[in-house]
Amino acid sequence: MKTYRIAVIPGDGIGKEVVPAAIDVLNKVALLDGRFQFEWTTFPWGCDYYLETGSMMPENGIEILKQYDQIFLGAVGMPELVPDHISLWGLLIKIRREMQQSINVRPAKLLQGLPSPLRQPNGFDFIVVRENSEGEYAESGGRIHSGQDEIAIQNAIFTRKGTERAMRYAFELAKARRQHVTSATKSNGITYSMPFWDEVFSEIGKEYEDVGKTSNHIDALADFLVMKPDNFDVIVASNLFGDILTDLGGAIMGSIGIAPAANINTEGVFPSMFEPVHGSAPDIAGRGIANPIGQIWTGKMMLDFLGYEEAGTHILNSIESTLTQGIKTPDLGGTATLREVTDAVLQYLESVY
Ligand code: NAI
Ligand code: MG
Repeated sequence: MKTYRIAVIPGDGIGKEVVPAAIDVLNKVALLDGRFQFEWTTFPWGCDYYLETGSMMPENGIEILKQYDQIFLGAVGMPELVPDHISLWGLLIKIRREMQQSINVRPAKLLQGLPSPLRQPNGFDFIVVRENSEGEYAESGGRIHSGQDEIAIQNAIFTRKGTERAMRYAFELAKARRQHVTSATKSNGITYSMPFWDEVFSEIGKEYEDVGKTSNHIDALADFLVMKPDNFDVIVASNLFGDILTDLGGAIMGSIGIAPAANINTEGVFPSMFEPVHGSAPDIAGRGIANPIGQIWTGKMMLDFLGYEEAGTHILNSIESTLTQGIKTPDLGGTATLREVTDAVLQYLESVY
């Protein structure tokens, strides 16, 4: 039997509630499947740790994490006590950057049992591949002078390596899906980086003859995702465009509480990190009513990544069965608790194996 050593960082707020729920589900799947098991090691890093020690993780935190196969993270942030730039850059973004998790993968799919806020949803199922290490979020630029003469410069950095990597990841993903990649561009307004982005899309696209290709300007794409989201399969986007499109994806699914994500180290030299899209939700933390689906679906993405796609499909089916039965947390208009949703998922899993 294969054993996976997973570093667990529940983090703050509802992270501490949804992570144990998702671990219950992953342990159950492992037990029922029988081919693999998980060995979880939990690290209490986050804002509480910061308040005690003055840093979000120990100095050798990254070295510690490198010893694990993958990282399973909840959410980070306690904005009333610790400024967000300290908590996010001190843990989450530090891990993403130092572990070279250069691709962020975020699916958006209309689940059975959930109405979309869109008026005429025909269903949709697309994945955004977001460049996660450079682009508009590169730390390059500066501010000089002050007052009337002040100048702020922010450079967007697009390397050939990083851009090709994102494109290839998207095309490979599309090959295993519905064979279409849409590139999010803005080469009619951004004069250097986006024409370059288009060129690389077209060059890498030539390696994938059977995959359909479309290039859409980001403004039109935002429109299409609302008007005809069923047109999309895989969307490849820069760091900023991908950030915005994936929040839109979460919204049209019905709640940010269900949206999953993965930060991938494509070379496999360091662990990848699996974390839902949502944050620590301080407004509902500690009440047992957080929606665990985002974290559970994130666990499904980890299983897919490890090569157990069938087990991952069972998890998604269990989530849909739970929603169809009307077992929903308050963010989806229901009255169920986190525990009730988790138990319903566990129960359905028993029945499919
Ligand atoms: P948030 O995602 O934590 O919450 C936004 C809204 O969605 C809130 O009303 C919350 O109750 C609701 N919500 C989120 N997840 C939910 C779930 N699973 N079930 C039910 N309702 C859910 O975003 P917000 O409020 O902007 O940020 C709170 C803290 O989280 C901040 O410190 C922020 O920096 C941090 N954050 C961390 C992220 C991460 O660790 N990846 C991502 C986004 C925010
Ligand atoms: Mg965002």
